[in-house]
Amino acid sequence: MSEPSLIEQLANIGIVVRGLHFGDRLVFERPAQSFGFLSGNNCIGAFSIVNDRCILNTVEIGRYCNLAMNCVLGIADHPVDWFSSHGFVYGGHDFRPFLRYPEWTSLVSDVRVFHGREEGHGAGPVRLGNDVWLGQNVIVRAGVTIGDGAIIGAGSVVTKDVAPYMVMGGVPARPIRQRFATAIVERFMALRWWTLDLSALRNQVDYANVPAVLDRLEAMVADGTVQPLRPKTYSLDQTPDGRYKLSTLAG
Ligand SMILES: CC(C)(COP(=O)(O)OP(=O)(O)OC[C@H]1O[C@@H](n2cnc3c(N)ncnc32)[C@H](O)[C@@H]1OP(=O)(O)O)[C@@H](O)C(=O)NCCC(=O)NCCS
Repeated sequence: MSEPSLIEQLANIGIVVRGLHFGDRLVFERPAQSFGFLSGNNCIGAFSIVNDRCILNTVEIGRYCNLAMNCVLGIADHPVDWFSSHGFVYGGHDFRPFLRYPEWTSLVSDVRVFHGREEGHGAGPVRLGNDVWLGQNVIVRAGVTIGDGAIIGAGSVVTKDVAPYMVMGGVPARPIRQRFATAIVERFMALRWWTLDLSALRNQVDYANVPAVLDRLEAMVADGTVQPLRPKTYSLDQTPDGRYKLSTLAG
């Protein structure tokens, strides 16, 4: 019998993928879905879903997140205050499609290499908390943190950090409203339900009735009848030959 492909192997251990586009490193908790194109170092928490045609460059995704189609997170900036924003001024030797052309190699400058912005927004990983929903076609700038429970409306461009449980929309994204009243948000943030094994609640609660679910879970935490969620965790590391090495990190 032939060896299962890496895609089948990954499906068997709890991550659904369509291609091998994991960047340098992907750490994921089981189960997860990653249909996007990843570069750099990324992690995807349990039950999170990255939909088709998302592009992620060094993104930390918590648990129970939904990224709708065509979201773009953490893509690098070009220099905005140099002679040109084009790669020829900043060591675009990484721009592989042009490397075969002498017009390019005789032009591209090595005097100063642009490594991206070093501080503030536009630099660093994108961080999504837990239970974050990005609507279709959302763009999140590098270095931005989106708090637990936040929702970003379709077509938004997120340029600044987003507080937990905010609904945001527009270009640039601005607050539409808080998802729940402040007292409820405080209960969500104290409970941190994404750290708990909610299988104990299956078919026991009406998830549309938020105060009742919070009451129930808070009582279960108090009397110790809910366990922590401990998903199996794996890493996929790219090797120098471009393949991926799968390792078990936990569970
Ligand atoms: C943001 C969203 C969740 C709606 O949130 P809501 O709190 O129910 O918002 P409402 O419909 O009550 O609208 C409130 C205001 O936000 C505005 N708004 C809604 N969606 C917006 C968006 N994507 N961008 C900018 N503004 C938006 C509305 O125009 C309205 O403005 P107004 O008060 O000036 O009239 C929804 O509009 C959305 O974008 N959903 C994403 C759908 C999607 O991509 N699905 C993919 C499947 S995973």
